[in-house]
Parts: sequence; C-alpha cells; structure tokens
Amino acid sequence: MRIDILTLFPEMFASVLNSSIVKRAADPALHAERAAAAPASPEDAAASGISGSSANPATPSGLPGPSGPPVSYHLVDIRDYTTNKHHKVDRPPFGGGPGMVIQCQPVWDAVMAAEAQDPRPATRVLMTPQGRRLDQAAVAALATKPRVLIIAGHYEGIDERVIEKLAPIEEVSIGDYVLSGGELPAMVLVDAMVRLIPGVLGDETSAHHDSFSGGAKGLLDHPHYTKPREWMGMSVPEVLLSGDHAKIAKWREEQARERTMKRRPDLLG
Ligand code: ADE
Repeated sequence: MRIDILTLFPEMFASVLNSSIVKRAADPALHAERAAAAPASPEDAAASGISGSSANPATPSGLPGPSGPPVSYHLVDIRDYTTNKHHKVDRPPFGGGPGMVIQCQPVWDAVMAAEAQDPRPATRVLMTPQGRRLDQAAVAALATKPRVLIIAGHYEGIDERVIEKLAPIEEVSIGDYVLSGGELPAMVLVDAMVRLIPGVLGDETSAHHDSFSGGAKGLLDHPHYTKPREWMGMSVPEVLLSGDHAKIAKWREEQARERTMKRRPDLLG
C-alpha cells in the first residue's frame, strides 16, 4: 500500500513513521526477510520506506511494488504548493468568526501532484471532526486499498469547495472530541491500517485476536499475564498455567465476553 499524507506539519510524523510496527511496515529489512522466503530482483532490495519533505533522509525513496515492503509513506507539505511570496496557506473565514481557513488552491495542487506520482487510484481521506467516526470495519476496508491519500486539516478547517471538488473523499473522525489538527488522527489511521496489511505483523494471526477484530468475534480482548506468577500478592489465573490449550481458549473467550458485557455492551449488538 502506498500512503500519501498531506499536512502543514510534516515534522509531526517523523517519530511515528520511524517507530515500531508503523516503521516495520515500510522497512526494507522486513522486505529482506520476505524476499529471503521468496527471492526477488536485486533492485527490489533498495525499495523502501518514507519519502517527502520531512522523510528520514537516510531512507531512500519508496518504490512500492509486489516484492517491496508492504507499505510506503509519502509526506507532502501543503505549504510547498502555495503560490504567494510568504507561503501563506490560510485566510480569515468569509462571514467572520474565529480562526483561519486553509485555502483551496494549495490543497488541490498538493493532491494533484501527489496523485500524479503513482498511477494507482488513491482512496482520498480527510481527517476532520465532522467525519464519520472511525471503527475497525472502516479501517479494515481501507487496509485493502492499494493507495490511500490522507489529508490532515488544521486551524478552523479547509475551504469546503476543495473538499467538494475532491469527491469522492471519505471524511473521517477518530472520535467526538476536537484536536488541534488532523495530524494525530492521520497517524491513528495509519497505525490502525498498516497492522492489518499481510506481512506487517510478525505473527500473521495476532491482528485477528485484537479487540474489535473478527477473529475474536468482535469482542474486547481478554486479560493478559506474564512472569512472575506472583506479584504483590496477586497470582496469575491457574488455568493459564495448566497447559490445557482448549481450556485456556475457552477461559479467554469467557473473559472477553464478560469484559465486553461490562465495559462495552453496545458491541454485543
Ligand atoms: N481534527 C481535529 N479533531 C479531529 C478528530 N477528532 N478526528 C479527525 N480529525 C480531527
């Protein structure tokens, strides 16, 4: 999957795109592991990674392909597409009111430039508190796309005309609260999507056991325990030490169901 992220604050993405599973998804080393299992051409070994104005300069530009890493990230600074001397992107709202509104032209030009870099059609997503609330089903649907282009708005929002012109575009909210911009929501979406892409997680099955995923029947996750067996006078449930895998699976499902009933009865439909 190719992921383009259009933002006024590309520097906010560096730590997230360079850490943990999100990094691993675009990591050529991960690709090397996969390539060892199914040998590919030497050029593919160079494919990676993160590109764009605040990409890690040590990482070569991404060339997504069937034998490259599962994901490539492309950061686009919307400000690079301004045509005025001071690189201003925002203006006060017509009709008055607080804050500033991002203008149509730099957003439109940034989208057109990003989309021209790859022939695969992009699924356009705008992060906004006015969008449809993100859930695991929506994440899973997006995770099947070959290319997702995410626009992170900021300030009071983006001029409505460019949003209309970019149709079809999915307007997505990560919850009923207002953040300073769409950057953190974009990172949330990226993290949630890439971990569902085959080959990204070490253990292929682990995403299916997560809370809200189909493999666990749409329930919250069961509790987890590790060493030591005793901590501050609290012991690990005996069944987990029994070695009886059927019994453990049954206990975990009961726990998941109980938790869901207590904490999120709405999920039980
Ligand atoms: N931008 C600001 N708040 C947001 C939210 N809750 N979801 C998506 N984008 C946002």
